Amino acid sequence: MVGAMRSFSVSPTARSVGSLRRLFALAAALALACGAKAQPADPTPAASSPPAASAPVAQPSAPAPAEPAGKTAPEPAAKPLLAVDVATGRHGAVTSAEKNATAVARAILERGGNAVDAAVALGLALGVTHPTAANMGGGGFMVVRKPDGSSAMLDFREVAPSKASRDMYLDDKGNVTMDRLRGPRAAGISGNIAGFAMAHKKFGTLPWKDLVEPAIGLARNGWEIDNTHAGDIAEALNEMRSYLEEVEAAAKPNPALVAGLRETMALFSHPDGTPLKAGDRMTAPALATTLAAIARDANAFYRGPLAKKMAAEVTAMGGLWTAQDLASYRAIERKPIVFDYRGYQIITVPPPSAGGVTVRQIFAASETLKLYEKPWDSVDRIHLYVEALRRIYADRNNLIADPAFVDVPMKTLLDVSYMARRMSDVDLKTATPSSKVGAGVTMQEKPQTTHFSVVDAKGMAVSLTYTLNGSFGARLAIPGTGVLLNNQMDDFTSKVGAANAYGLVQGPQNSIAPGKRMVSSMSPTIVAKDGALRAVCGSPGGGTIPTTTAQILMQVLDYGRTIDQAVANTRIHHQWLPDAIIHEETLDPAIAQALAARGHKLISRRAIGHANCIEVDPTTGDLRAVADAGRRGGDADAY
Ligand code: DON
Repeated sequence: MVGAMRSFSVSPTARSVGSLRRLFALAAALALACGAKAQPADPTPAASSPPAASAPVAQPSAPAPAEPAGKTAPEPAAKPLLAVDVATGRHGAVTSAEKNATAVARAILERGGNAVDAAVALGLALGVTHPTAANMGGGGFMVVRKPDGSSAMLDFREVAPSKASRDMYLDDKGNVTMDRLRGPRAAGISGNIAGFAMAHKKFGTLPWKDLVEPAIGLARNGWEIDNTHAGDIAEALNEMRSYLEEVEAAAKPNPALVAGLRETMALFSHPDGTPLKAGDRMTAPALATTLAAIARDANAFYRGPLAKKMAAEVTAMGGLWTAQDLASYRAIERKPIVFDYRGYQIITVPPPSAGGVTVRQIFAASETLKLYEKPWDSVDRIHLYVEALRRIYADRNNLIADPAFVDVPMKTLLDVSYMARRMSDVDLKTATPSSKVGAGVTMQEKPQTTHFSVVDAKGMAVSLTYTLNGSFGARLAIPGTGVLLNNQMDDFTSKVGAANAYGLVQGPQNSIAPGKRMVSSMSPTIVAKDGALRAVCGSPGGGTIPTTTAQILMQVLDYGRTIDQAVANTRIHHQWLPDAIIHEETLDPAIAQALAARGHKLISRRAIGHANCIEVDPTTGDLRAVADAGRRGGDADAY
């Protein structure tokens, strides 16, 4: 946007390799077999990216992986990297998933608001213009770093309703049921408004109502739908339609749920029932009224007539929310995880998100295995990185949960020497089957997201990830309010050993209990060096969130890449189960084949995550904001 903006895409050199077509066919089959959630089709075609306007990402000087024997014919080359949107400036920087929301944050910064003011206004505006992931019906985590170097973390994750119970998503045969993902029973008690209000109270400088007003204006006056959101809406309406058909086909359809679903579909449709499309102007009058009540008093979401109405509507549709659940909800300020990594200070989130522990462990593995000494694209580095992830996610899935309910062995998990022990059985050349890797600590049995970053002129930084969980959450709005229900309950362990929507196979520590926060992977992170801000980063993407965040930061901190180069680059992920490397299709086929030769299974995806990040250029001090535009749209701005 305004500022020195540019975008680029990079085409790695074509290399001919062995039979990759077979490998990708295998990967596709694996994705199905493993139940890996397909990424929603991204309507933003990479091919529409503006032409390259900057130097391409420096390719490390690693020798190309050895050519496999038996090569007979030229094979497909890696695809060009996805485009990013970059903006640089000196006074403020913002990057988010949607351009009207980015503009709201910039306007708040320009009128003298600090980064938290801008983040709160952005979070509320994005709740209007990015219904895919935001909206006040969700929850999330925020990391703040103040110019004096102090930091804080706010947890506004949803909690399970008081009527929730461990086996609430198991049918009489013990199979997990769809109501953990869809409809009124999927929703935890939302935390977003409590989180934003707490952030404003602790760190904000402008009046609360001034931060809510831009969101009200957007909801009332409308905004233009872009390609990405038009695609999201079309897909969500299809899902809502088939859900409605199922509800109506029931022996005794719940009339309140039928009406609620029809009203939800109408929010995103023309009067004739066709989906809103790119270029259409969308308004959200019910949301504007709800936001107006919140502008008068943030507590209105949790107490009083609005709260009572929401609880009654959810109950009528068959959900579990009570007015008392809303009244008891509290955002929590927690001590962030702060650790040193090769001269940098990294600040990230503690449980109930597992994201920060995972990020810390990835950096500990990097130190232990000296990953940073190996070229970024070398097969040896990727192999070791993946072996580390396999072990780290075995811990993540089996040990981490809401600390109010479970004794998470934090001291051990954050200890670099523990990681060294965990890595001691890594085979340098061969993949360890995940079936041979368990959690490193034994425990008593107890029991579509979005990230944005903001930096202000004084160097105050906010890294914030929040979510409805799935795209459009439970695919259901609370009638009359415009509030979309989240489907965050699926982040609990519905059944030990069964994968959730993100393929995560989690343990009993994360079982459902009333008032408990479901474990998350979100990892909003901030990096400082020598007492000054260096980078702000995070991403959506379920289990892939911490690996996306850590990979971007490792490229910036260890490989001298700019943040836009790091965001553009190919992402690789492993989460213990499914036992496969999940990688973007831009991965060089020669590398993919060399990894397969070491015993790794591979699953290819068009895109992983959506990282909207900012760095302070270490040489010039300029702010460089990058939106991960080629993966799922978005808009970076700086001035
Ligand atoms: O909290 C979590 O880890 C998940 N609910 C995040 C879901 C997500 O990232 C969806 N977006 N792609």
